[in-house]
Amino acid sequence: MSSGSNLNLALRILATSALVAAGPCDIYASGNTPCVAAHSTTRALYSRFNGALYQVRRASDSTTTTIKPLSAGGVANSATQDKFCQGTTCLITTIYDQSGRGNHLTDAPPGGAATGPLAGGYDNLADASAAPITLSGKKVYGVYINPATGYRNDQTSGIATLDQPEGMYAVLDGTHYNDVCCFDYGNAETNNQDPGAAHMEAIYFGSGGRKSHGTGSGPWIMADLENGLYSNNQTSGINANNPSQTSRFVTAVVKGKPNEWAIRGAASSAQKLATYWDGPRPQGYQPMKKEGAIILGIGGDNSDGAEGTFYEGVMTSGYPSNAVEDAVQANIAAAKYAA
Ligand SMILES: *[C@@H]1O[C@H](CO)[C@@H](O)[C@H](O)[C@H]1NC(C)=O
Repeated sequence: MSSGSNLNLALRILATSALVAAGPCDIYASGNTPCVAAHSTTRALYSRFNGALYQVRRASDSTTTTIKPLSAGGVANSATQDKFCQGTTCLITTIYDQSGRGNHLTDAPPGGAATGPLAGGYDNLADASAAPITLSGKKVYGVYINPATGYRNDQTSGIATLDQPEGMYAVLDGTHYNDVCCFDYGNAETNNQDPGAAHMEAIYFGSGGRKSHGTGSGPWIMADLENGLYSNNQTSGINANNPSQTSRFVTAVVKGKPNEWAIRGAASSAQKLATYWDGPRPQGYQPMKKEGAIILGIGGDNSDGAEGTFYEGVMTSGYPSNAVEDAVQANIAAAKYAA
């Protein structure tokens, strides 16, 4: 054996052992499509991350505390929240960005939406204890979005703008949804207004069907591209490849680059994602006019009538390959989301 092949073998072993501990954002980075935003109240999304996952504020004295992973790369230390919030109630005030870019999510400001329970005002914050689940057998909390609840960041760093490529995924509660606009996670307008088609590229989850939608009565994983929820490149009709979701935990994927975009999804326990759409943009959406804000639980103009539950999600720089996304999905399955 030459020393060269010994070296190759050593590198392969190193790569394999690194992969065992890799978190979703380590996997995206290995495909040269790094996370530029990484949000979760349930776990670290990098194997080395041990900073603040989220902040809660309690009603009794309006003080705050932060919840971190139990260990680097681990699940959230929910006991911190339980102890801090005992005998009172807590709201989630900040969902921190684990990517290091400072793309934290806080209370969504007023937007241009003419309808919605809080039209014209700041959104509500999520009750920190409203979405308890287990992850790897340990109790953690999701972000329970009621109508009029939402999070946003209008001044981001590194998020795709205009026609730049990006990817995103979110793990959601497949049984918590409605048909009102819009339970979204992803790229939106920086001024909270709706200037027209192609200014957004976000995951949508629910049973609203403004343009094309999936089979059955929903809920569906679709894309909010602004002025429309899309299941494919059609402005009406049914995408036979996009099924109603039936699982308690759902992984939703949307990605886009010039002349191509895709919707993928699966039960969060599945080993691989299915592709529901992969093709050209709808008419009027090429090139995209992405602005690079980040929203959670609302539409781009702060339409805030939707409901849903968010557990974890990221946005990437660059268009991730299906293989990288499938590796992320295998990591999510191994993390074992359970009700
Ligand atoms: C939609 O995409 C298909 C390819 O998958 C293409 O043949 C068709 O022309 C597109 N339709 C529109 C309205 O862009």
